[in-house]
Amino acid sequence: MAVEDLGDTVELTFPSSPKTRVTILKYGATVISWKVADVEQLWLSEGAKLDGSKPVRGGIPLVFPVFGKSAEEGFQALPQHGFARNSTWEFLGQTTENPPTVQFALSPAEANPEVYSKWGKGDNDFTLFLTITLNDDNLTTKIEVSNSDSKPWTFNWLFHTYLKVNEIEDTLVNNLPGEECYDQLIAETYEEKSPAIDFTQELDRIYRNVSTDKVVQVIELGKVVHNVKRVNLPDLVVWNPWVEKSKGMADFEPKSGYHKMVCIEPGHVHDFVELKPGESWTAEQIIYKGDAIKLQSI
Ligand code: BG6
Repeated sequence: MAVEDLGDTVELTFPSSPKTRVTILKYGATVISWKVADVEQLWLSEGAKLDGSKPVRGGIPLVFPVFGKSAEEGFQALPQHGFARNSTWEFLGQTTENPPTVQFALSPAEANPEVYSKWGKGDNDFTLFLTITLNDDNLTTKIEVSNSDSKPWTFNWLFHTYLKVNEIEDTLVNNLPGEECYDQLIAETYEEKSPAIDFTQELDRIYRNVSTDKVVQVIELGKVVHNVKRVNLPDLVVWNPWVEKSKGMADFEPKSGYHKMVCIEPGHVHDFVELKPGESWTAEQIIYKGDAIKLQSI
């Protein structure tokens, strides 16, 4: 069976390659594992809570309707990264057999009421459809945000993807030179000068308005380990918590786990997207295998 509903999780298996599979937790519609030919591609903390008591530390948590914290009206009361990652989504079922594709939905009826009520005046009517497709060499996550309200509202979207690496100190992320970068650690904006980003300490940056023609590659010891393609997602957050920040996160285990991960997070976070009543917005993240280094300058 290509798609199995296991209760708390849904599992997809690629028909001609049964060791290529993806597991999605209904809580947060969080992808918690993606294996290609039995090799795990995502990092999941050993201390991650999978029981719905807090957002999952690892995999692909979904960030909506705010990235981080915002002082904007209608967002101040929301906790960091909003409520999509701490709400249990409705599993709508399988939409195609091959490649296996499934859909999840979130609307005010399913949203975590404690958090949802803090967005705007607590009554923004919305529908999210998440479509996940497993191919033999890629995982595609597509989001559709619809305004079912009689008033306009605004939002951020972000796929908070934790990619697995063997050793962060051997890892580079390319194709960002020349891009505008907001460094969250020093609260400064500058132009990225490095031909490739390397990791020697905590790093938390938002690359803004990066052309979606650019595929960002994660390269380890000269080999491409992940390619990240974006559709309608202009921004890219790159994050590694390193030693001290990892220590401060109770669900980040083992504490040395920062060596094994890098977050590459495609989103729309440099401003809020506005949706009028009846309007929809869609975007996609495609993570794929493929070992050719492709350098794309500005
Ligand atoms: C990243 C942010 O996207 O998420 C970081 O850039 C933040 O600043 C990280 O620390 C983790 O956030 P959280 O809420 O999952 O601990």
